[in-house]
Amino acid sequence: MKRLLVTGGAGFIGSNFVRYLREQRPLWHVTVLDKLTYAGREENLAGLESSKESFEFVRGDICDERVVAGCVRDGGADTIVHFAAESHVDQSIVNPYVFTETNVRGTQVLLEAARAAGIERFHYVGTDEVYGHVASPGRSSEDHAFAPRSPYAATKAAAEHLVHAYGATYGLPVTVTRGSNTIGPHQFPEKAASLFITNAIDGEPLPIYGDGLQVRDYMHVDDHCAAILAVLERGVVGEAYNVGTGVETANIEMARTVLEALGRPASLVRHVTDRAGHDRRYALDTSKLRSLGWKPQFAFDAAIAVTVRWYAEHEEWWRPIKSGAFRAWYEQQYRERLAGS
Ligand code: NAD
Ligand code: DAU
Repeated sequence: MKRLLVTGGAGFIGSNFVRYLREQRPLWHVTVLDKLTYAGREENLAGLESSKESFEFVRGDICDERVVAGCVRDGGADTIVHFAAESHVDQSIVNPYVFTETNVRGTQVLLEAARAAGIERFHYVGTDEVYGHVASPGRSSEDHAFAPRSPYAATKAAAEHLVHAYGATYGLPVTVTRGSNTIGPHQFPEKAASLFITNAIDGEPLPIYGDGLQVRDYMHVDDHCAAILAVLERGVVGEAYNVGTGVETANIEMARTVLEALGRPASLVRHVTDRAGHDRRYALDTSKLRSLGWKPQFAFDAAIAVTVRWYAEHEEWWRPIKSGAFRAWYEQQYRERLAGS
């Protein structure tokens, strides 16, 4: 039995990971440490409170050394899976300082606590954005140089450098996954897929940045979770693993697939002013992860279809978000853009 500290476990991928573990490794003990920022929601973990002997929720900040130490010392955890982050590129363009604080300093606080407690494994949930734009037909393998271009990606790259540095300098047993664009239940509707799906359900326009020909690798969250578990159990300490399906999809195609799935007209697509410094293409070589026996279970169309169905069936989850504080963000980001489209 393992004892995991899952940071950011009330967010999108973290909460899906905790549920995934419940099914796959029911005997493992999980403590979630989450600050519950706007993106973290306790209801994402609803139902888990009942398994008190194997699940615990701590509301706290990864930048708070006392709270973090309290979660890992005295056998509190033997493994840390670190998801907690500010995760939205557009937010990082508007409000970058909190990204450095949480993503870089917060990661270092966790690394220090892991070192002091003699943790068995520190797993960092990284991103393919560290490679920056990748020209076609190239694919980034794990030894590809980092070239992050947004404040978000730069902080994720900086934190990942710290993770490897603690491995090399202090012998901390670290592993890293660098995941592609993930979609599925409980994704905060600021991200393209969840925004497009919920807008489409309401018959609202889908704001596509620029020409919409930017390429992403949209992966179902269960595949991302399975990859992290595979690396935890079979990955080599000190190594990083790319995680993605290998399928390239233009954003405009993703939007059209969403509209088709919901029976909405293609005319809902609106081309709006592009994101500053928008990376044109991400593409990963995932052979290293596949050699651990992992392969994606969801084709692109299936990943979109099940995700669309989840949002259609769980309006009670996303409607209060979209009509609440998120509204101000949406107005600020999209009002002028949509008016000029
Ligand atoms: P998210 O924004 O949905 O969740 C982030 C969680 O971290 C939230 O629950 C939030 O409350 C928590 N958090 C933020 N600051 C915190 C702090 N200071 N202390 C404690 N908790 C804090 O993000 P996500 O999309 O689930 O991403 C999770 C991780 O996966 C991130 O590290 C992200 O960089 C990485 N990642 C995401 C994707 C993707 O497509 N979403 C792809 C690859 C990697
Ligand atoms: O690649 C992994 C990364 O994927 C993760 O590290 C990030 O945490 C996650 O947010 C995601 O980053 P992106 O910037 O790629 O995701 P986002 O959903 O914001 O945008 C996906 C694409 O869609 C991107 O090319 C920008 C575009 N887009 C986004 C929004 C929000 C639009 O065209 N319109 C929009 O309104």
